[in-house]
Amino acid sequence: MRKPAVTSIPIAALMAERWSPRAYDASFVITSEQVRALLEAARWAPSFGNTQPARYLVGVRGTPAFEAILATLNSGNRAWAHRASLLLIGVMVTTNEKGAVPYAEYGLGLASENLVLQAVELGLVAHQMAGFSADAVRAAFSLPSDAVPKVAIAVGAPGHPDVLEEDWRIEREKAERERLPLEEFAFTDEWGKPAL
Ligand SMILES: Cc1cc2nc3c(=O)[nH]c(=O)nc-3n(C[C@H](O)[C@H](O)[C@H](O)COP(=O)(O)O)c2cc1C
Repeated sequence: MRKPAVTSIPIAALMAERWSPRAYDASFVITSEQVRALLEAARWAPSFGNTQPARYLVGVRGTPAFEAILATLNSGNRAWAHRASLLLIGVMVTTNEKGAVPYAEYGLGLASENLVLQAVELGLVAHQMAGFSADAVRAAFSLPSDAVPKVAIAVGAPGHPDVLEEDWRIEREKAERERLPLEEFAFTDEWGKPAL
């Protein structure tokens, strides 16, 4: 299923086509080249002073790392994310030799959006999740104290919404995508005065 953004003017296809599905094709096997492309895209994201705070824990379905990441997800996310081909945890490194890394979370966000857009470029889909236990990730992957797990990401091939089984999940999958109107999004002269 596709759910392209309904935009007021055409935007780059990668961004228009990106969305966060929960229905994945459980038979799809991701290649190591595809995994490499996702991580390369994330690696080349900009960051404050090129401090590069983003790191990823990577689990391909069928491996212990996948099961370990899946086990850290909350039950609502686990219910669908088990069909993904790849699970990642996005981690921000908060210190370096100069001390605290400024804008570390911002840097991880930029890297993760790169990764997600690269998934679309590969004909795959991706879904970011805050619903996981950072403490469980720390324990499972022996993270140092300055490595902060911030986001889980499911990647895979799109599946039919019916794989979600429960009616409410299928309806949510098919629901329209919404955004604030541009007038409430970009301002000029004073806060609240639409730029366009
Ligand atoms: C940081 C972050 C955390 C999110 N956490 C979850 C989550 O735990 N579970 C979930 O189903 N979706 C989660 N989402 C997906 C959002 O709900 C989704 O991106 C938003 O509704 C917009 O939909 P779209 O991505 O399809 O445009 C998260 C997205 C982001 C960026």
